[in-house]
Amino acid sequence: MGAPVLRYLAGPAGDRVKDFNGKVAVITGGASGVGRSLAFALGRRGAKVAVGDVDADAMQQIAVDLEAENIEAIVVHCDVTSLESLNALADAATDKLGGLDLVFANAGIGAGETGAMWDYSEKDWQWCLNVNVWGVINSIRAFMPRLVATGKEAHFVVTGSGNGAYLILPDAPIYTASKATVHAITENLHYQCQAGQLPVKVSALFPGPHVVDTGLFNSGRVRPEALQKDTQGNESGINSVDDMKEMAAQYGIELQTTHPDEVAEMAVKGLEQDAFWLLETTEDTDAKIRARAEMILNRTTPVPAMLG
Ligand SMILES: NC(=O)c1ccc[n+]([C@@H]2O[C@H](COP(=O)([O-])OP(=O)(O)OC[C@H]3O[C@@H](n4cnc5c(N)ncnc54)[C@H](O)[C@@H]3O)[C@@H](O)[C@H]2O)c1
Repeated sequence: MGAPVLRYLAGPAGDRVKDFNGKVAVITGGASGVGRSLAFALGRRGAKVAVGDVDADAMQQIAVDLEAENIEAIVVHCDVTSLESLNALADAATDKLGGLDLVFANAGIGAGETGAMWDYSEKDWQWCLNVNVWGVINSIRAFMPRLVATGKEAHFVVTGSGNGAYLILPDAPIYTASKATVHAITENLHYQCQAGQLPVKVSALFPGPHVVDTGLFNSGRVRPEALQKDTQGNESGINSVDDMKEMAAQYGIELQTTHPDEVAEMAVKGLEQDAFWLLETTEDTDAKIRARAEMILNRTTPVPAMLG
């Protein structure tokens, strides 16, 4: 597991650094983890922040914490599986904060599936695809027409995952499938904005370079009533990053983790340069991406890449 690799292939430096002061940033899934860190990273740079989430406790906490730092913000109940809910978030940000400049389609869950995919509960498939994929589609449908209509420079950032976008890790097929779809949508959105010469810049945010210490492995706390299962917790038995560390240790691996604040800083620095890839990898991950490309070019039968 080598040193992190971070490169932005942006154009010439100089006029590219952005000022987020006074800008309005909307963050879905903004009450915890990466979204919460983004709210503070942008708020500390003077942005006004609209947090949309479904976790009442986390929403209450972030509202208090943002106020304590004098960050102008609204915290709104928003379920990304509903287009109406996202339209209401967009209206609230526009009416109460005075506009829309940056949108982070960030909300996501891990369904915690394990075993053979043909045995998975349909409820796991539905929940994960509803939040991770439809959440992004709904966010595009709610926010892109508004961003385009302003005619001003804006950013639309989608939180994806390397697991699905450029590697297929073998342990969470529903999540991987959702994030493969999310990346295809994100890259296409970028191409469409580029082709239309729109002032909206699209970026793909990949939390990392290591597993990010967030609530993702305990997503069951926000599983909707209609998609509850009989079992408690994740069937994989992994309900936190600590569980993951313990499991890795059983295989003799010391799992490294990344703090979500580091992800937010990496993302904001990339946005300052209009980077598409908000991506920090390790040399180990780069080697796996290279091996995957070689495997396709050489028609080699896939072997699973492991978490690193
Ligand atoms: N943690 C990692 O290692 C990692 C790695 C790659 C990608 N990601 C992605 O980062 C994003 C943020 O996740 P995180 O790791 O910060 O986890 P997190 O659980 O801490 O944050 C996710 C947030 O989304 C919210 N959410 C869940 N369902 C929602 C819904 N229907 N509507 C609105 N909000 C909802 C949750 O309440 C939570 O606040 C996700 O898209 C995730 O897939 C995380």
